[in-house]
This record gives sequence, C-alpha cells and structure tokens, in this order.
Amino acid sequence: MSGAHPWDDPEWAAAHRIEIDTSRMMADAVGPEHGIAPDDLASLEHAAKRAHEALAKQRAAGELPFYDLPYQDLGPIMETAGWVQSKFDDFLLVGIGGSSLGPKAAHQALAPVHYNLLSREARGGPRLFFLENVDPHTLDATLKMVDPAWTCVSVVSKSGGTAETAANYMVVRGFFGEHVHNPAAHMIATTDPVEGELRALAAREGWKTLPIPPGVGGRFSQLTAVGLLPAAVCGLDVAGLLAGAADMEARTRAADLSSNPAYHLAALHYLANVRKGKAICVMMPYADALTSFADWFVQLWAESLGKAHGVDGREVRAGQTPLPAVGAIDQHSQLQLFVEGPNDKMVTFVRLDRFPDPGAIPEIHPEVGSMAYLGGHSLAELLNIEQAATEMALTQHQRPSMRIDVPELNAFTLGQLFFLYEVATAFAGGLYGVNPFDQPGVEHGKKLAYGALGREGFEDLMGGRG
Ligand code: PA5
Repeated sequence: MSGAHPWDDPEWAAAHRIEIDTSRMMADAVGPEHGIAPDDLASLEHAAKRAHEALAKQRAAGELPFYDLPYQDLGPIMETAGWVQSKFDDFLLVGIGGSSLGPKAAHQALAPVHYNLLSREARGGPRLFFLENVDPHTLDATLKMVDPAWTCVSVVSKSGGTAETAANYMVVRGFFGEHVHNPAAHMIATTDPVEGELRALAAREGWKTLPIPPGVGGRFSQLTAVGLLPAAVCGLDVAGLLAGAADMEARTRAADLSSNPAYHLAALHYLANVRKGKAICVMMPYADALTSFADWFVQLWAESLGKAHGVDGREVRAGQTPLPAVGAIDQHSQLQLFVEGPNDKMVTFVRLDRFPDPGAIPEIHPEVGSMAYLGGHSLAELLNIEQAATEMALTQHQRPSMRIDVPELNAFTLGQLFFLYEVATAFAGGLYGVNPFDQPGVEHGKKLAYGALGREGFEDLMGGRG
C-alpha cells in the first residue's frame, strides 16, 4: 500500500468503490410495462445533454459550490473540533432539515453503535445529542442529561432564521444562562459567512463560528461544517468522507448516461416515474447503520424535486415521493405492499458486502426445525440472503428495483454515497426541468408560521388560499 491514507492506494480505492446494479430496473427483468427499455434511455439523450450542459455551466460560473466540497481545506473544522474535544463532555447540535439529517446519517453510519452509552475513550469524543423538533418533551429530557458547564451547543442554520432552530436555541440558552457564567463561550454557530441574524448574534457575542459556503443549500450541506464538524468532534474520519466524495466526483464528471453513475441512476428514477408510473421510490438499506442515510435521501429527493413550476415558469407538479424502509425489518412491515400492492414504486436496495463482524449463528438446537437450518450461517449472510430474496420477489412481481453494492461501510464508501445522490438529484432536476436547489413550498410554510407567531413583517399572511 502506498501513500498516507488507504484510499491513496489505487487498489484499495478500487476495492472500496460502490457499484450500482440496475439490471432489475429494465424491461428485460420486469417486463415492458414496468421496466425501462434501452430505447427509453436512448430517447433521453437530448434532455440528458441539456441537463449536463446546464450543470456544467452553473458549475463553471461558481453557482454549484457543493461540487467542490470534496476538495476543501479541513483546517478550520478540525481546529474547532479539537477545541470542542478538549473542553466538553457533551455536544448539542441544534438544527433541523438539511442542518441535521446529514450529520445524523454520518454519525449513525460511522460512529460505534450505542455511541452515547460508551466510555469517552471508546466513543472518541463527547456525547452527541440532536435537537431538531420543537418537542418540549425531547428538549427537557435532553437538558436533564447534560451538565451545562461541560456542554457545547452548536447551532446550525444556513438562513440563521429558522423558527424551530431559533426556539430550541433560545430554550437551551435560557437554561445555560441559569447555570454557567458565560454561555457564549459554549456556543458555536455554523451558518452563512455573512448573512443572517445568527451570524450577527454570534459575531456580537464572540461565539466560535464556521461558515456554510454561500450557494450550498441545507440539503446539499452534509460535506460542509454542517456535517463535518459533528463528525470530527466524535472522532469520525472526515478526511475519508471527503476522499470518498472526491472519488465519486471524478466518476460523475462524464457527460453520458452510461458512464456517469449518478446520471444513470437519476435517469432511471426519472423514466420510472414519468413513463412507468412509479410515483414512489423506496430507499431500503439492509443495514441499521444506514437507516438515517435513507432519511437524508428522503429530504434530498423530496425537497429538491417536488416542485409546482419548472424553471421555464410552467406548471409541472414534478417529483417522486421517497419512502424510507430498512431491511430486514420492513420485510415484516411494508414489503407486502411493495410486492403485491399498486405497482407504483421502484425500490433501491443498499447492501453491504462485508460487516465488521458477520455475527456467527451458533449450531445449537438441532432438534428445533425452525432454528436448526440457521446454525452455522451468520447474521450478515442471512441479511444479504434476505435482501436477494426480496429483490427476486419484487422482480417476479414485475416491480423494478436497483441495488447499490457497498463493499463495506466506512467513511470512504459513505462519502461516495452522499456525493452520488447529490449529483443524481442535481441532474434529475434538469431532467424534470425544475430547480433542485430552491424550496418555495417550505419557505411559504415558514412565512405562514412567522405570521401566526406575530413576527414583524409577516403579519396578514394567514387566511388566503395561496
Ligand atoms: O434543505 C434545506 O434548505 C432545508 O431543509 C433547510 O436545511 C431547513 O429548512 C433548515 O434551514 P436552515 O438551515 O436555514 O435553518
């Protein structure tokens, strides 16, 4: 092996590249009514070229900075993370939507299971708590768990004005005000480098701050300080995440659908949706550690592509409803619907080839028929056999699916997954003819809530039909 990092070794990198098997999306596998024919893909050639050129143009103009995140300088993030690690036992992340889903996904995928219950040494960093919803019960219970003297509060908001984040911060700050001499010394703001009231407050009070680069929206911000600071604070491999993202960035430069995995994936989603009636796309990892990744994907796909109007102003009502599931648990919950209900779904499986410990099943109870056959196998083997069986059941019922094969779950492969779906989402926006980077429907709801709460400038918004 050469180089300072394992991914510097081309052989290691090649062996840790995620691959996508799309064969079960195709008409050959599930029939012409529900599957994609090569002609369908060929017919997208012009739209795909236009979408690629539009992205390339925006990227060249510096309007899509998420593309450049794999190559950022990690210095400021690592420095802030070191400060947190040296001073605090607990880390509260206050944020919602794109400001919390990515960090949660990375933490669940890469940190030790039951992280907060382990010793500090085994954890590798302070305990981590997410404050997302404005549920008083969660907030109260979380504040009872921490000692403010040894707790850092990280407020994450691109806009710096989201009501839920502001309210949760205010409750936390009130609590800290009663218990510590200088609450501002416990605060970090991750927000726009210039704009917004959170940035102004942090500057006024001398908080630590990290920037979310202008032009990187919430749901595309996992690879900024939004996701990387909490990961670094918890001792996760942030350089590996960026290396994986960079590897995928290189793979997603190609213009044509057949050699660009993100474009190919997006094109299949798009065709399945608009030509084959697959209004729902299920994200179904077969690993508990990727449950939150599915939630991250849901927000990315839903908020980016669910749009009333196209970029040309025409009404389009675009979007495909993403649905999270987890194997094998959802085999005993939603799978009956997926296999026999309305044929309006496509399923994406994410499968790990290797688990850190396959979990050998001991050969006990040879006298119990429902157990004897399991002995000598492993839990990992069972999980992946169940995935293969589910995939086969769907195919036999003419339900399209694709599978992402992940050699093993680590920072390098997770970075690839994040970046793959970010590029796929941006490209799918082009195919649908919508702007994947705005969220007018969300903004509308935010403004109505401001009005209802009496925020200055937002009065008189309630009551209309929109
Ligand atoms: O992706 C998005 O833009 C949204 O989901 C935001 O992340 C979410 O609304 C929170 O906004 P902010 O980060 O401005 O507090």
